[in-house]
Amino acid sequence: MSDHTDLNHALKGLARKPEEVSVHTDDIFDKAFGFTRADEAMEAGIYPYFKPISEQHGGTVKVDGREMIITGSNDYLGLTQDPRLEKAAMEVFDRYGTSCTGSRSLTGTLAVHEELERRLAEFFKAEAALTFTTGFLGMLAVLSALAGRRDILYLDRENHASLYDGARLSFGAMRKYRHNDLDDLERLLARDAGKPGGRMIVTDGVFSMSGHIADLPGIVELARRYGARVAVDDAHATGALGENGRGTPEHFGLEDEIDLIIGTFSKSFASVGGFVMGPRSVINYIKHHGRPFIFTAALPAMQVAVALEALEIMETEPEHRERLQQNAEQLRGGIGSLGFDTMGSETQIVPVLIGPDELTVMFWRGLWEEGIFTTPALPPGVPPGQSIIRTSVNANHTPEQIGRLLEAFAAIGRGLGVIG
Ligand SMILES: Cc1ncc(COP(=O)(O)O)c(C=O)c1O
Repeated sequence: MSDHTDLNHALKGLARKPEEVSVHTDDIFDKAFGFTRADEAMEAGIYPYFKPISEQHGGTVKVDGREMIITGSNDYLGLTQDPRLEKAAMEVFDRYGTSCTGSRSLTGTLAVHEELERRLAEFFKAEAALTFTTGFLGMLAVLSALAGRRDILYLDRENHASLYDGARLSFGAMRKYRHNDLDDLERLLARDAGKPGGRMIVTDGVFSMSGHIADLPGIVELARRYGARVAVDDAHATGALGENGRGTPEHFGLEDEIDLIIGTFSKSFASVGGFVMGPRSVINYIKHHGRPFIFTAALPAMQVAVALEALEIMETEPEHRERLQQNAEQLRGGIGSLGFDTMGSETQIVPVLIGPDELTVMFWRGLWEEGIFTTPALPPGVPPGQSIIRTSVNANHTPEQIGRLLEAFAAIGRGLGVIG
């Protein structure tokens, strides 16, 4: 038992003085006092999360003074150290200081927020856009504002947690369909046909763990047939996919058919924050009804300026996207040809299926010792027995770095018997 656990038990004793308890109730902290798994893994040296990075440069990071190749980050266009983004941040810092300290609806709307919303709407050819303090809050705001008591939201089972939480926060009903399975989606839509209320199909554009691309043509067709709207969370596709970086709708030539595009600045935009794009009246409604938009402090000016500069680069410098795609092919092809199961990834996100949890953690540890920074995804993040190492590349990885990564995967995969 760890020191922490002992301490927890001691604290629990303190919290339960008999004279203070008049009726029997459970202690709401019980679950926390009993949660020792993370501490135990840390003590055994097999805890793969929250590793503090002291520096990051292109495809490498420094941890405990050691340079490591990073895979699995979301800095897809490799812009987080671009000097132009840093300069843009410093310029608005001089004008606005460190924080808005207020909600957008009160004292927190800055001229740069409106400029970014205007530029985003132009880029995506949408009527209007709205930005949020994070993408997660954006998903909550959009779904909770739009789905009222009689409405129904249809969500792919592999959708990001923020969409599930947004649906739960709303007053609408939620239906989950099997991942990318349009027969299952149609079965649910047909079952609800004739019921009152509106419908919206909500899907990730690129799925964050499997790297699959949503079947938007099929979804759009079903939406038309069953009178549903379509919202796409394109967090992992904006900037990365489509001829001009406009994500999965552009990839499929369906930009006019998607009702809402929701996204984040925390990936290709090398910033933080979220956004939604769509018809002016819908954006205006979210602006006045989305509680996770209204009741939180606005996105700081520096992050807005970084996103604006990244948008400019996205629009005018396709070479970052092209390098990302080349790197993604090298990674995906390389991992696949070593004999690993990449679970049908089609993008820069390449899951490597290891299977059992323990084996996956051993795999992660082997990579760590080889100087490769990765993180495993274990249940409940993935189905039981389907644990993965999530890899991804960015535009700044060099072919040599990806080569080293592949060598490490080959050596550890063979050593642990995952590949022959
Ligand atoms: C698909 C998807 N949607 C939404 C989010 C939330 O975005 P943010 O990091 O801006 O909160 C993420 C972040 O990981 C994501 O992967």
